[in-house]
Amino acid sequence: MAESLLIDKTLPKEEKYKLLVEQVNYLFDENDHVLSSLSNFTAVLKHLFDSFSWVGFYLLESDILHLGPFQGKLACTRINLGKGVCGTSAQMRESIIVPDVDKFPGHIACDSDSKSELVIPLIKDNFLFGVLDIDSTQYNNFDDMDKLYLEKICNLFLQKINLSSFVL
Ligand code: SME
Repeated sequence: MAESLLIDKTLPKEEKYKLLVEQVNYLFDENDHVLSSLSNFTAVLKHLFDSFSWVGFYLLESDILHLGPFQGKLACTRINLGKGVCGTSAQMRESIIVPDVDKFPGHIACDSDSKSELVIPLIKDNFLFGVLDIDSTQYNNFDDMDKLYLEKICNLFLQKINLSSFVL
């Protein structure tokens, strides 16, 4: 892992995403344990985007998503495949933007302050590792720009990190 993040958090959103796309390779080290890489990934996103109130991974084992490395408030530890936004995204293998969590049937409320959410499935070589979940305390915080850049960044990240040390 690189020692420092070379991105100014006051830049416009798209600029930060573009720099992240360029820097994923530099920021993460394939020799690091996967838990270290996942942890630092959440730290990078939480630091760069003030509107992200919670950033974390849920990791899949036997149809259950287990809470992984995250930044933010205490969160639920298990989500069944197909349940909530995370379980639905994992089952469909598609990213989901939720502009208003109260309007998503079955949304699992870990934090009552959370108002909108973006979930991205983590897939490499057709294998589903889990999801990246990002919450915001603002309604409509996530748009297609967030989804497209974060999908790209997640894919680059998955190519780079040492998934053979995946422990679940
Ligand atoms: N809201 C998620 C649960 C996880 S928390 O947001 C951290 C869901 O409905 O799957």
